[in-house]
Amino acid sequence: MATLVTGGAGFIGSHTAVALHAAGRDVVIVDNFSNSSPKAVDAVRALTTDDLAFVEADLLDTDAVERVFKNHTIDEVVHFAAHKAVGESVEKPLAYYRNNLGSTISLVEVMAEHGVSKLVFSSSCTVYGEPDVIPVTESAPTGAESPYGWTKYMSEQILVDAARALPLDVVLLRYFNPVGAHPSGTIGEDPNGIPNNLVPFVMQVAVGRLDQVRVFGDDYDTPDGTGVRDYIHVMDLAEAHVAALEAMASGRLRGANPVNIGTGNGYSVLDVIRAASTAVGRELPYEVVGRRAGDIAKTWAATDHAADVLGWRASRDIEEMLADHWRWQSQNPDGFA
Ligand code: UFG
Repeated sequence: MATLVTGGAGFIGSHTAVALHAAGRDVVIVDNFSNSSPKAVDAVRALTTDDLAFVEADLLDTDAVERVFKNHTIDEVVHFAAHKAVGESVEKPLAYYRNNLGSTISLVEVMAEHGVSKLVFSSSCTVYGEPDVIPVTESAPTGAESPYGWTKYMSEQILVDAARALPLDVVLLRYFNPVGAHPSGTIGEDPNGIPNNLVPFVMQVAVGRLDQVRVFGDDYDTPDGTGVRDYIHVMDLAEAHVAALEAMASGRLRGANPVNIGTGNGYSVLDVIRAASTAVGRELPYEVVGRRAGDIAKTWAATDHAADVLGWRASRDIEEMLADHWRWQSQNPDGFA
């Protein structure tokens, strides 16, 4: 089987490329490096095979996508390529809608022309907003709070409709909070500028690029007052994509299916700082500041549906997530730069 991985130079895409190769698939990566580095492709090749196929292309360039499907045998697709910064999406909504929706539409059109009918789409628990019932199940109400979130919500709807009309099976993986890195420490998350997300921020404090962690609020309705999230190791997440492709290839999953990808456990910001301090081997400094606009108090995933339909459950704990994330960051204090 040959799998096209769009956004395969990015954080989750690069780890998934490695997991797909480990599962015996040929991998073709497409990326335009809009928020990633050619060095990530080199590192993926070092972990897999030197002849792993890579094409530099923008998915909005339909002719370029056409060429990828003409020049390579593609059996199935995992679609990561997208803009993903919540704050930036508020400032540049049109760029987010054009990029995230346009690329998904072109990709599915070209897939249909070439008779490729299996797709895994990167969605997000952001489609649940602030859930009323936790752990949150796939049947919880959906919506969005930011243009970024709406692009995930709308992409899901586009794919649900496409799966009704076309010979298309699609698994909509709703990721909770991906962290960690490949245990080699050679690929990992490499955010542009000051990180928005907690674990990359904590790790930049650990390498001395930032002074101290800012804890956004300690007055939430949670055990220690700080926000609670379902952090999941990126290797577990990567393996969920393989499981989703296998569930479609075997015919077990047909049509469009949303599936939560989390561990089912919630950890607070202070839990994460403590686990990171253990991984790093010293107390990481933090101060409590005000809440960040748009944040929810708590969420974690109901995981039974993933186990039922994908035969997959996360297996790596928070200690392993932070130990692996730290290995990547300590070996590469400036990321791929
Ligand atoms: N936090 C801090 N300090 C920081 C960064 C984050 O205290 O410097 C806190 C947040 O308030 C939150 C928790 O750490 O309680 C996790 O925050 P992240 O930014 O790491 O993750 P979010 O849950 O806010 O974001 C995730 C995804 C987004 C998605 C969003 C939807 O990363 O892609 O969920 O809620 F849009």
